[in-house]
Order: sequence, then C-alpha cells, then structure tokens
Amino acid sequence: MQILILTDYRNAFYSSTRNARTLSTLDVAAIRTEFEKRGYQTAIKKFSEVDFSQSYAGTYVLYTSSEDRGLKYKSYIEDLILFLKEKGATVIPDYPFLRAHHNKSFMEMLRYQLFPQQARLLNTKICGTVEDLKAADLTEQQYVIKSAYGAGSKHVKSAAGKQYLIGIAEKMSRCFDLEDIASEYRRRIFWPKYKNGSLHRNKFIIQNFIEGLKGDFKVLRYGRRFYRLYRENRPDDFRASGGGRLNFALPDSVDENRLLSFAKESSDRIGTPLCSMDIAWNGTGFILLEFQCLCFGPYTAERSDHYTVYEEGQWKKIYEKCNIEDVLSEAIHQYIHQIQKV
Ligand SMILES: Nc1ncnc2c1ncn2[C@@H]1O[C@H](COP(=O)(O)OP(=O)(O)O)[C@@H](O)[C@H]1O
Ligand SMILES: [Mg+2]
Repeated sequence: MQILILTDYRNAFYSSTRNARTLSTLDVAAIRTEFEKRGYQTAIKKFSEVDFSQSYAGTYVLYTSSEDRGLKYKSYIEDLILFLKEKGATVIPDYPFLRAHHNKSFMEMLRYQLFPQQARLLNTKICGTVEDLKAADLTEQQYVIKSAYGAGSKHVKSAAGKQYLIGIAEKMSRCFDLEDIASEYRRRIFWPKYKNGSLHRNKFIIQNFIEGLKGDFKVLRYGRRFYRLYRENRPDDFRASGGGRLNFALPDSVDENRLLSFAKESSDRIGTPLCSMDIAWNGTGFILLEFQCLCFGPYTAERSDHYTVYEEGQWKKIYEKCNIEDVLSEAIHQYIHQIQKV
C-alpha cells in the first residue's frame, strides 16, 4: 500500500505545540517510520512536487492545509487535492473536509447535510456579500456573526437586531482593494443604470445565539482515542475559543461520558479519522459549534495525561503521554483498514 504525504512549501505538515514559534509542524520523518512499520510504502513530497501526469489510483494521500490570510495558498492546496482525487487518489480527509477547513461558510453547509437537527437549532444563514444579509428575513433576536475565516474567536461577535448586525457585517465583509473600489465608483458615477457591485464580499455567517454558555469543550478524536478539555469563556464575554482559560478538569455540571458519547456520535457521522470538535452544553443538551478534520491544533492531545476509548460498551481512560505522530499514524492506518473492507 502506498501513502503519499504532502507538505507545504516550508516542509510543514499539520502542527504541533512543540515548535509553535519556529516551523509549527509534526515530525514527518517519524510519521513515515510509523507507516513503514505497518507495511506501507511511504513518500513525502511538497505540494509543488506533485507529478500531474501519473495515475494516483491506489494511493492514499495525506496532506496539510493552510490558514494564510485570505486563504490564497489554501486555494492552491484545494486545486491540487481535488485534482489528485480526480486522478484516482484516496485523499484523507476527503475533499469537502479540506474545503470546510478554516471556512465556516462551507462548514455550515456541511452541517445542514450531516446534522440537520442542529442546523435547524442554529438556523445558520451563509452570506457571500453584506447585500445578502440586508435582503434576508431577520428578527430583533440575538445573533452570533462569524467571518468565514478566523480562529480563536477573533472574528466572532454577537448582535441583537438587524441594523446592529448589518453594521458589524459591513465591517467584517469589507474589501480593501483600492483599485477595485476606485473602478467600482467610476462605474457607479459614469455608467447610467449601472447595477452596483458589492464592496463587501468577504463571506460570513450568522446564527442563533445559544444562551447561557459558560464555556465550551474541545474534543479531539484520533481514530479510537478521544482527548478533551474545558474552555471557560473569557471574562464578561460569551466566547471561549482563544481565551486561553483551558482546564483538563471538567466542570461537575457535565457528565464526561455523555460528552464523549456525543463527540463519538458526531465524529462517526463526519466519518474522518481525525476530528476536532468545539462542543457546547446548554444545560439540557450538547451542540456541536465547530468541527475541523485536518490541521487542527493538537494541544488538547499533546498536553493530556490520558486518552479515552470506547470499548465493550463503556468509556475507559488510559493514562499515557501522547506521542502525536504515533497516534496520528495509528488513526490513519485503522481508517485505511476500515475503508478497504467496504
Ligand atoms: N451560536 C453560538 N452561540 C453562543 N456562543 C457561541 C456560538 N457560536 C460560537 N460561540 C462561542 O464563540 C466561540 C468561538 O466560536 P467558533 O465558531 O468556535 O469560532 P472560532 O473559529 O473563532 O473558534 C466559541 O468557543 C463559543 O464560546
Ligand atoms: Mg472554535
């Protein structure tokens, strides 16, 4: 069996907390060794070294992603991965999950497909321009608005009422290309009956505000292993992500096994070998706020003193320091084994 591991232009693959300030990457050579131990032929290449003429039938492709501003380099990765899929490769994770990485617009679309009940609860509207929001049917209730791109709550805000929401959306979606702005105004002034083009085309989403959250849970799944931590909201803020108030001890108000069972059901439905989930508990039920299937931060696994597995109908804690390369390779290997059977 053949595995091709694709790294970015700096030779980075995924990320680790060990080297966050130099080149944040996993140890690709160690991952190769893990796969070779399990009998795979393993090649490591940069995206730019992909051979476009060969067939990729029978090759499993593991690849990294990017969160560069404006997602310019990421769009190049998307081109390549879609192409490799067209050429017969089994890309892990599948292309839609790359598309959804660092892209709340597509992630929320996937939610409608995978979790229709939760989608109804959140009632997410996905907007390509601020004009889309202005045309939407909105009430005076509290909403959450999120730029399609962004992590750590950086571009997540809450707002009550249409006018206030539109004000925030205008700022969030504004395009700053001066040439673009100048030529749009030229057309508006000099072309009679010209239909205005939008100057607010950075996509964003709005959804119902979930009341009463004190924090959320980060659950990472690597195959059979689950890691989790609690993130308390920032002081006087509804947002947990990016606040740094992380705790491996979970609050008493939440049943850990129920949390893990919810994470298992959600990630089984998503169906990828690796999954990071932001999960909220509103006092009566769990809500999956966000999911990512590649290149997510491994802090929760790397810093945990144990993982949990579901075996013989129950959750069992196994105390072990996480060797992330080993854990990732095992998860991918088990996934390949599983998809080969069907
Ligand atoms: N619909 C919502 N209602 C209430 N709080 C929310 C909602 N969505 C997100 N949050 C809060 O905002 C934080 C950031 O949201 P998230 O969608 O995870 O964005 P990011 O990619 O920036 O982490 C979450 O950690 C959670 O605390
Ligand atoms: Mg998040």
